[in-house]
Amino acid sequence: MIYPIYLYGHPVLRKETKALTPDYPNLKELVDDMFTTLDKVGGIGLAAPQIGLSIRLFIVDLDPFKDERPEFAGVRKVFINPEFLWRSDEEFTTIEEGCLSVPDINEKVERPAKVKIKYYDLDFKEHIEEHDDWMARVMQHEYDHIDAHLFIDRVSPLRRRMIKGKLAAIQKRKVTPRYKFK
Ligand code: NI
Repeated sequence: MIYPIYLYGHPVLRKETKALTPDYPNLKELVDDMFTTLDKVGGIGLAAPQIGLSIRLFIVDLDPFKDERPEFAGVRKVFINPEFLWRSDEEFTTIEEGCLSVPDINEKVERPAKVKIKYYDLDFKEHIEEHDDWMARVMQHEYDHIDAHLFIDRVSPLRRRMIKGKLAAIQKRKVTPRYKFK
């Protein structure tokens, strides 16, 4: 199934999320549907709050970059109850980000370049990994979602003023993304 995407202004994007337990109903099916949704709407990451669920889960799919970056072919990951153990506090990158929940807005965001993360997979097996490059970037953007933050919270006050009108339009749902939304 394809989920509608909850857009900026919907309270679920600012709601506290709960950790998942192994008895969460139909978790594998939910994750499958999240990948199907991401594939359909065209994105590289999707967090549970973006489909209206206040749980600590997000997915990353770097496969769409495979033409420019062959090493990303088939790179699809599920992160359950993730936690950053470390983020590089001396090394940062500034990259333009976008978000399915904030259509038609792209803004530069500075974030740590490298991260160490602990998370669980679909079998509730614990993993500890270090990431950099695109994976670190997308993971931090998605992690923000499960902490009720959006990338626009991290842009400069000046840029924030510049996009105020566009944000107001999204809030009024005066937008036409190619996907179903709430
Ligand atoms: Ni996003």
